[in-house]
Amino acid sequence: MIAIHDLVKHYGRFAAVDGVSLEVKSGEIHGFLGPNGAGKTTTLRMIAGLLKPTSGRIVINGHDLAIAPETAKASLGFIPDRPFIYEKLTAGEFLRFHAGLFGMNGNGLGDRVREMLDLFEIGKWEDQLVESFSHGMKQRLVMSAAFLHRPRSVVVDEPMVGLDPRGARLIKDVFRRMSERGVAILMSTHTLEVAQEMCDRITIILKGRIIASGTVNELLGMAGNADDQLTEVFLKLTGGGALQELDEII
Ligand SMILES: Nc1ncnc2c1ncn2[C@@H]1O[C@H](COP(=O)(O)OP(=O)(O)OP(=O)(O)O)[C@@H](O)[C@H]1O
Ligand SMILES: [Mg+2]
Repeated sequence: MIAIHDLVKHYGRFAAVDGVSLEVKSGEIHGFLGPNGAGKTTTLRMIAGLLKPTSGRIVINGHDLAIAPETAKASLGFIPDRPFIYEKLTAGEFLRFHAGLFGMNGNGLGDRVREMLDLFEIGKWEDQLVESFSHGMKQRLVMSAAFLHRPRSVVVDEPMVGLDPRGARLIKDVFRRMSERGVAILMSTHTLEVAQEMCDRITIILKGRIIASGTVNELLGMAGNADDQLTEVFLKLTGGGALQELDEII
């Protein structure tokens, strides 16, 4: 479970996140949408404990991030939009390093590492250096690290960028399987077809504030035409006037 209450992040006078509240229940895949610069990454980085909020409250699996940060973070998996991986480690070493950060060790670790690499279809590269990996392989390695310690909540920032169709399908299947097992997933994405297909609920933010929230069907109804695709609804809600200008320019 992830709950955020009235979350605010200021950079000087600028409010990148301006009073965002939402809840992601156990077993729910929650889509976090919004145009470039809306404040998605800033919000997700605050939930992951990488950025300090200006104000507001974050509760992860019942643990207040400000009061019990280590316990809260121990039950969270975070997949950043631009992950940092030590290029001179092998995939297996990277996962064991990650496991160490979460206090995992002992006999079962080797099996668990292999299980996660196999799940994300990079098992045969366990002993290869990360520097030789393609973008999609690195992406899948970061995902296997995020699920390694069996987190009950996962925050993921644009998981589909640069994945081939097979990789994208795999990620969708894994996320769905994890949510069926009770994991709460908060996912930002610009791939609205994916959001429409996968998410139980969706929150749309614009300029740091929530402008719409609900199930996919509720959002489709909100724009006045339930036959619309989520992309149309998104453009209406966020003011997508650029296409008309395009005609004038061309
Ligand atoms: N360190 C910083 N200092 C000042 N402004 C920042 C900083 N980090 C982010 N911002 C601003 O905060 C706003 C929100 O940025 P954020 O990265 O959260 O957007 P986003 O919704 O993730 O966008 P995108 O879809 O492009 O990833 C932007 O206007 C950005 O310029
Ligand atoms: Mg972002």
